Amino acid sequence: MLPKVIATMAPPESVSSQLSDFCELLTCDPATGVIPDEWLQSADGMLCTLNTPVTAGLFSRAPQLKVVSSVSVGVDHIDLDAATAAAVPVGNTPGVLVDSTADLALGLMLAVTRRLPEADQFVRKGEWTNAWSTGFFLGTDLSRSTVGLIGLGPIGQAVAKRALAFGARVIGWTRTPREIPGVELMSMDEVLSGADITSLHTALVPETRNLIGARELALMKPGAILINTARGGLIDEPALVDVLQAGRLKAGLDVFAEEPLPANSPLLTTPNTVLVPHLGSATAATRQAMLDRAVINLRAGLAGEPLPYCVNPEAYDA
Ligand code: GLV
Ligand code: GLV
Repeated sequence: MLPKVIATMAPPESVSSQLSDFCELLTCDPATGVIPDEWLQSADGMLCTLNTPVTAGLFSRAPQLKVVSSVSVGVDHIDLDAATAAAVPVGNTPGVLVDSTADLALGLMLAVTRRLPEADQFVRKGEWTNAWSTGFFLGTDLSRSTVGLIGLGPIGQAVAKRALAFGARVIGWTRTPREIPGVELMSMDEVLSGADITSLHTALVPETRNLIGARELALMKPGAILINTARGGLIDEPALVDVLQAGRLKAGLDVFAEEPLPANSPLLTTPNTVLVPHLGSATAATRQAMLDRAVINLRAGLAGEPLPYCVNPEAYDA
């Protein structure tokens, strides 16, 4: 009998055909994401996305679970302590989405500095009736900007490389200081107060929740830009809404405290804000590479072998 794997999303055909070689797939209703209790009782593995909260309660209802494989690099949706206590290794997909996410961060920087969504709307609405003039629709230059990076892991470093290529000065803060070519390291407060554009690239863990609150936003220069392609929970969102509504800061956001962004979110009406729906890794090649890693992790976990990409290797000692 093949091991049973709960998939919390419907994997693409290319992936489900690979999976059917080594497991029986139980696919949740994508509309609700609800996992039936009787599936948990007998599940050997789980393939999930960041939409699925993988809680301590879930581990306690899944006594046979041998592996959780998430199609994401971030694992803040998974209770890692509970996974480790239950001796369940958790796999993620690091590395393969670094360039795509860094590209999107730069895209958001350009969209905000050059006002691209606003300009697009202007043309489509038929408002472009004026002659070309020197003071029209002005923005700012990356080459004349200081870009500040909060977090300098692989994605932060990839953003640094891109911003340097654009001619920006790059300053940064990281919890584990390391030499990065072209990046001037300083304290987080110095980055926030020195940057024209601050971009967040740290994982969401208890210590980084609401890392950017009212105090930190107040340190940023008037007119400065906040870019977030990491996790919404890094920012105190109501505090950000306040400064955006006041016109003090601008923002380019790919991630939000609650996703999908609720229809009544005040962010939908803030000025100088570009919003996109969690697209950091959304290229065909990167998503395929993430799925490939997730399948490799799942297969290893079901076979009782170490996961190639494991976020809680302590689980093997539990
Ligand atoms: C996406 O946000 C991921 O963590 O892979
Ligand atoms: C992603 O791989 C990161 O931590 O930067």
